[in-house]
Amino acid sequence: MLISNKIRTATVLMSVLLIANLSHAGDDPIEISQRISSGDPVAGKEKSTLCQGCHGETGISIMPNIPNLAGQWGAYIMRELRDFWSGSRTDPIMTDMAGTVTSMTDAFDISAYFASQPQMPFEPTTNDNEEGKRLYIIYRCISCHGEEGRGRPQNNPIFPIIGGQHKEYLIKQLDDFRTSMRDTDMSGTMPILAKRLSAAETDAIADYLSSKKPPDPVEVAVPIITPVVTSAIPEIWKTLLSDKPMMIEGTNFVTDSAKLKIIAYQQLNGLVEFAKTYSEPVINVVGHTDSTGTVKHNEKLSLARAESVKAYLIKQAIAADRIIVKGEAANSPIADNKTITGRAKNRRVEIRTSIREETKVLVTNLP
Ligand code: HEC
Ligand code: HEC
Repeated sequence: MLISNKIRTATVLMSVLLIANLSHAGDDPIEISQRISSGDPVAGKEKSTLCQGCHGETGISIMPNIPNLAGQWGAYIMRELRDFWSGSRTDPIMTDMAGTVTSMTDAFDISAYFASQPQMPFEPTTNDNEEGKRLYIIYRCISCHGEEGRGRPQNNPIFPIIGGQHKEYLIKQLDDFRTSMRDTDMSGTMPILAKRLSAAETDAIADYLSSKKPPDPVEVAVPIITPVVTSAIPEIWKTLLSDKPMMIEGTNFVTDSAKLKIIAYQQLNGLVEFAKTYSEPVINVVGHTDSTGTVKHNEKLSLARAESVKAYLIKQAIAADRIIVKGEAANSPIADNKTITGRAKNRRVEIRTSIREETKVLVTNLP
């Protein structure tokens, strides 16, 4: 068992290495294996599907309030999980999520998986927030978090990697240290430093640490103009616009409750990503119940279910006026209300939205 785990770990390292060559320093195999410490990253990949729903498949999250875990020290991730378990660090969402990890082996494997990923990108450009960089050095953040926030060269896993982290998240953590909401730093340094930083300084440092190079300009393909052959018959294309319906099904609930199940966040984050990519479509959220209970009660409950989905979407910065909620009580069952599994399927929220799809069709191309 142990041996086979080692072999699997080695395979992951190999494949990570291939990607690493394309990225930056910080991802050579020795560094990766130091980050992983104990734990099996291959097993961790499967065990972390729930975590990936928020923290991203490779540990790069799309939401600025959710931290990147890509290439973070495995030992630091473990320590934070322990802090969430013990309650010395709390967060309305993450505390519940940490609670879903119930075995030590799983915690080590999950931490190893995120540690094994190519490190969160930090790409300051020459004119990128000089002030933030200066403050980072003056306040000696560098002595613990290392050059550019990439960790200490001695590979000391006590100090988290913060270069390449989301700005909003960094500011929130510094605020939490300042107010002792997060009181986990055993060295006692973070609360003291956070209190010393002004709001403007905090912003500048966080801005520097979250630097990302703007993407390379996309080369626009120049059409190759071929000489017109007089006998050629022109092709005429027409662009058709059609609404492509999309539906997310199966965000289920416990009997008589409108509280979202943990697993629902994962589906909803897919929707959040969609809503952020396409800023126009209206999102119809329809709540349903099973047939138990009175019609009146079910009308209320189904609406409450739709409302809790709406509340979560708003929390993720989706504009409230794009979200329409409706409760359909038990009027549209999708399964048999006489069975337990049927009823569970019926207690759900369906989300309908559509995207405009462009298709090009050839109208004429006569011989
Ligand atoms: C529903 C979204 C969500 C899911 C799912 C989730 N997390 Fe989190 N996680 C968060 C948020 C939000 C924070 C930031 C908490 C804060 O602001 O203090 C966080 C913070 C963390 C941190 C602290 C990172 C740091 O840099 O200090 C770790 C570690 C972590 N999560 C691990 C996990 C693991 C492991 C799982 C899977 C068991 C998981 N998370 C699932 C939302 C989520
Ligand atoms: C003496 C060492 C030390 C110095 C100096 C230091 N830090 Fe930290 N920092 C830590 C430790 C240790 C933690 C982890 C605390 C914990 O959660 O237990 C931490 C955590 C953090 C976090 C939270 C990271 C995360 O992923 O949640 C941020 C942000 C941070 N430090 C920023 C800074 C900044 C900015 C400075 C300079 C103003 C600084 N630190 C200086 C030791 C240090």
